[in-house]
Amino acid sequence: MPRPPRKALVAAGLIIALGALAACLPGLPQRDPQANGARLYADYCAACHGPGGKGDGPGAEGLKPRPADLTRLAARNHGTFPQVQVMAKVYGYHQGKGGGGGPMPEFGPLLEGPTVLVETAPGVMTPTPEKLVALAEHVERLGRN
Ligand code: HEC
Repeated sequence: MPRPPRKALVAAGLIIALGALAACLPGLPQRDPQANGARLYADYCAACHGPGGKGDGPGAEGLKPRPADLTRLAARNHGTFPQVQVMAKVYGYHQGKGGGGGPMPEFGPLLEGPTVLVETAPGVMTPTPEKLVALAEHVERLGRN
Protein backbone atom coordinates (compact mmCIF):
# COMPACT_ATOMS: atom_id res chain seq x y z
CA MET A 1 0.00 0.00 0.00
CA PRO A 2 1.52 3.36 -0.98
CA ARG A 3 2.07 5.57 1.99
CA PRO A 4 0.78 9.15 1.64
CA PRO A 5 3.70 11.44 0.98
CA ARG A 6 4.77 12.68 4.37
CA LYS A 7 5.68 16.14 3.16
CA ALA A 8 2.20 16.72 1.75
CA LEU A 9 0.65 15.71 5.06
CA VAL A 10 2.87 18.08 6.99
CA ALA A 11 2.04 20.90 4.59
CA ALA A 12 -1.68 20.23 4.84
CA GLY A 13 -1.48 20.14 8.62
CA LEU A 14 0.41 23.40 8.67
CA ILE A 15 -2.15 25.11 6.46
CA ILE A 16 -5.01 23.94 8.67
CA ALA A 17 -3.16 25.07 11.79
CA LEU A 18 -2.46 28.49 10.30
CA GLY A 19 -6.06 28.86 9.21
CA ALA A 20 -7.27 28.01 12.70
CA LEU A 21 -4.80 30.46 14.19
CA ALA A 22 -5.92 33.24 11.86
CA ALA A 23 -9.54 32.57 12.80
CA CYS A 24 -8.66 32.81 16.50
CA LEU A 25 -6.73 36.05 16.32
CA PRO A 26 -8.77 38.92 17.70
CA GLY A 27 -8.84 40.29 14.19
CA LEU A 28 -6.70 43.12 13.02
CA PRO A 29 -8.52 46.35 13.74
CA GLN A 30 -10.78 47.07 10.82
CA ARG A 31 -10.08 50.75 10.46
CA ASP A 32 -12.87 52.68 8.88
CA PRO A 33 -12.03 56.21 9.95
CA GLN A 34 -14.73 57.67 7.77
CA ALA A 35 -17.55 55.79 9.45
CA ASN A 36 -15.95 56.34 12.80
CA GLY A 37 -15.74 60.11 12.38
CA ALA A 38 -19.31 60.24 11.13
CA ARG A 39 -20.54 58.24 14.11
CA LEU A 40 -18.64 60.37 16.60
CA TYR A 41 -19.98 63.50 14.96
CA ALA A 42 -23.56 62.22 15.10
CA ASP A 43 -23.12 61.30 18.78
CA TYR A 44 -21.31 64.36 20.05
CA CYS A 45 -21.72 67.28 17.68
CA ALA A 46 -24.85 67.10 15.55
CA ALA A 47 -27.15 68.13 18.42
CA CYS A 48 -25.73 71.65 18.27
CA HIS A 49 -23.99 71.93 14.92
CA GLY A 50 -26.65 70.04 12.97
CA PRO A 51 -26.21 66.82 10.95
CA GLY A 52 -24.71 68.74 8.04
CA GLY A 53 -22.63 71.09 10.20
CA LYS A 54 -24.57 74.26 9.43
CA GLY A 55 -25.00 75.13 13.10
CA ASP A 56 -28.69 74.28 13.03
CA GLY A 57 -29.03 71.32 15.41
CA PRO A 58 -31.96 71.14 17.84
CA GLY A 59 -29.64 72.07 20.72
CA ALA A 60 -28.58 75.28 18.97
CA GLU A 61 -31.85 76.91 19.99
CA GLY A 62 -31.14 79.79 22.33
CA LEU A 63 -27.36 79.27 22.53
CA LYS A 64 -25.25 82.39 22.70
CA PRO A 65 -23.05 82.55 20.77
CA ARG A 66 -24.62 80.33 18.14
CA PRO A 67 -22.86 77.08 17.22
CA ALA A 68 -20.45 77.74 14.39
CA ASP A 69 -21.27 76.82 10.80
CA LEU A 70 -18.69 74.05 10.38
CA THR A 71 -19.11 73.92 6.61
CA ARG A 72 -17.46 77.35 6.31
CA LEU A 73 -14.27 76.67 8.27
CA ALA A 74 -12.03 76.13 5.24
CA ALA A 75 -13.58 79.01 3.32
CA ARG A 76 -13.01 81.32 6.29
CA ASN A 77 -9.39 80.18 6.49
CA HIS A 78 -8.32 81.09 2.94
CA GLY A 79 -9.43 77.72 1.61
CA THR A 80 -7.36 75.59 3.99
CA PHE A 81 -9.20 73.46 6.51
CA PRO A 82 -7.87 74.52 9.96
CA GLN A 83 -7.39 70.94 11.18
CA VAL A 84 -5.27 71.73 14.22
CA GLN A 85 -7.53 74.55 15.45
CA VAL A 86 -10.58 72.33 15.05
CA MET A 87 -8.95 69.51 17.01
CA ALA A 88 -7.83 71.95 19.72
CA LYS A 89 -11.31 73.40 20.02
CA VAL A 90 -12.98 70.00 20.21
CA TYR A 91 -10.43 68.62 22.66
CA GLY A 92 -10.86 71.67 24.87
CA TYR A 93 -7.41 73.11 24.46
CA HIS A 94 -8.04 76.81 24.27
CA GLN A 95 -5.56 78.95 22.44
CA GLY A 96 -5.51 82.65 23.04
CA LYS A 97 -8.63 84.77 23.44
CA GLY A 98 -8.76 84.21 27.18
CA GLY A 99 -9.62 80.50 27.24
CA GLY A 100 -12.94 78.75 26.82
CA GLY A 101 -16.10 79.48 28.71
CA GLY A 102 -18.49 79.27 25.74
CA PRO A 103 -21.42 76.87 25.57
CA MET A 104 -19.48 74.20 23.70
CA PRO A 105 -18.33 71.34 25.94
CA GLU A 106 -14.79 69.96 25.99
CA PHE A 107 -14.57 66.49 24.47
CA GLY A 108 -11.01 65.58 25.43
CA PRO A 109 -11.93 62.96 28.04
CA LEU A 110 -14.41 61.27 25.67
CA LEU A 111 -11.85 60.95 22.92
CA GLU A 112 -9.04 59.26 24.82
CA GLY A 113 -7.66 56.09 23.24
CA PRO A 114 -5.05 55.04 20.73
CA THR A 115 -3.12 57.92 19.25
CA VAL A 116 -1.68 58.64 15.83
CA LEU A 117 1.05 61.12 14.99
CA VAL A 118 -0.21 64.33 13.46
CA GLU A 119 1.96 67.12 12.13
CA THR A 120 0.52 69.95 14.23
CA ALA A 121 3.14 72.46 13.14
CA PRO A 122 5.81 72.21 10.47
CA GLY A 123 8.07 69.38 11.62
CA VAL A 124 6.23 68.86 14.92
CA MET A 125 4.60 65.44 15.23
CA THR A 126 2.11 65.29 18.10
CA PRO A 127 0.50 62.07 19.33
CA THR A 128 -3.19 62.80 18.88
CA PRO A 129 -6.20 60.64 19.80
CA GLU A 130 -7.31 58.72 16.71
CA LYS A 131 -10.94 59.60 17.44
CA LEU A 132 -10.12 63.30 17.46
CA VAL A 133 -8.42 62.98 14.07
CA ALA A 134 -11.38 61.01 12.66
CA LEU A 135 -13.77 63.69 13.92
CA ALA A 136 -11.75 66.50 12.37
CA GLU A 137 -11.65 64.58 9.07
CA HIS A 138 -15.42 64.27 9.17
CA VAL A 139 -15.83 67.98 9.89
CA GLU A 140 -13.54 68.70 6.94
CA ARG A 141 -15.77 66.57 4.67
CA LEU A 142 -18.85 68.52 5.82
CA GLY A 143 -17.36 71.57 4.13
CA ARG A 144 -16.96 69.73 0.83
CA ASN A 145 -20.59 68.67 0.46
C1 HEC B 1 -23.73 72.22 23.35
C2 HEC B 1 -23.61 72.59 21.95
C3 HEC B 1 -22.36 72.17 21.20
C4 HEC B 1 -21.86 70.90 20.98
C5 HEC B 1 -22.43 69.58 21.51
C6 HEC B 1 -20.71 71.04 20.15
N1 HEC B 1 -20.48 72.35 19.85
FE1 HEC B 1 -19.01 73.09 18.68
N2 HEC B 1 -19.59 74.98 19.12
C7 HEC B 1 -20.71 75.32 19.84
C8 HEC B 1 -20.82 76.76 19.92
C9 HEC B 1 -21.93 77.53 20.64
C10 HEC B 1 -19.73 77.29 19.21
C11 HEC B 1 -19.39 78.78 18.97
C12 HEC B 1 -18.80 79.39 20.20
C13 HEC B 1 -17.43 78.86 20.47
O1 HEC B 1 -16.56 78.96 19.58
O2 HEC B 1 -17.21 78.34 21.57
C14 HEC B 1 -18.96 76.13 18.73
C15 HEC B 1 -17.79 76.22 18.00
C16 HEC B 1 -17.15 75.16 17.41
C17 HEC B 1 -15.96 75.25 16.59
C18 HEC B 1 -15.19 76.53 16.31
C19 HEC B 1 -15.57 77.02 14.96
C20 HEC B 1 -14.89 78.30 14.59
O3 HEC B 1 -15.61 79.23 14.22
O4 HEC B 1 -13.67 78.36 14.66
C21 HEC B 1 -15.69 74.01 16.15
C22 HEC B 1 -14.56 73.58 15.23
C23 HEC B 1 -16.68 73.12 16.71
N3 HEC B 1 -17.55 73.85 17.47
C24 HEC B 1 -16.73 71.77 16.48
C25 HEC B 1 -17.51 70.90 17.23
C26 HEC B 1 -17.42 69.47 17.14
C27 HEC B 1 -16.54 68.71 16.15
C28 HEC B 1 -18.28 68.97 18.06
C29 HEC B 1 -18.49 67.54 18.45
C30 HEC B 1 -17.34 66.85 18.99
C31 HEC B 1 -18.95 70.09 18.71
N4 HEC B 1 -18.45 71.23 18.17
C32 HEC B 1 -19.93 69.98 19.68
C33 HEC B 1 -21.61 74.44 20.42
C34 HEC B 1 -21.47 73.07 20.47
